[in-house]
Amino acid sequence: MNSDALQKVRVLFVCLGNICRSPTAEGVFRERVKQAGLDSRIEIDSAGTGDWHIGRAPDKRAQKFAARAGYDISDLRARQVSGQDFSRFDYVLAMDGQNLADLQQMQPAGWQGSLALFLGFHPELDVREVPDPYTGDEQAFIEVVELIERGADALLEDIRKKLG
Ligand code: 4NP
Repeated sequence: MNSDALQKVRVLFVCLGNICRSPTAEGVFRERVKQAGLDSRIEIDSAGTGDWHIGRAPDKRAQKFAARAGYDISDLRARQVSGQDFSRFDYVLAMDGQNLADLQQMQPAGWQGSLALFLGFHPELDVREVPDPYTGDEQAFIEVVELIERGADALLEDIRKKLG
């Protein structure tokens, strides 16, 4: 047995409101992990840096285009990220650079996890951020789902190696 292999990995997706991008990432990644048979070894959650939407279901447009691609995110409820999340999660993954900067301010000294841009795990994508679709049109939401699907595949590859 490889003693370096992790038994369990905990992943937190973070955006601004926790009603569009990060719940979509949670729903897509949950499905990928389930298909890979890794649900007992990978824990998944999402949160927002802002507090405006705490307790709310995902934006109707995010729900609609996630559902259209096969992901039911209707049961998710928004929450705000907290400093304690860093002790709970191994990966804290930001949707855009501002989310990352906000999280860097909260990161406790000595924390051993990975705080990074979610799309940074993809070796070939030329976009590094999942753009905020909140004030955009329906196409913006469709593109969010597509980008997140690509990011989720790359993230799963990375985590698989660590799980051994
Ligand atoms: P999210 O999108 O960060 O992907 O959930 C947003 C949702 C709400 C707001 C901004 C972005 N807002 O300003 O209320």
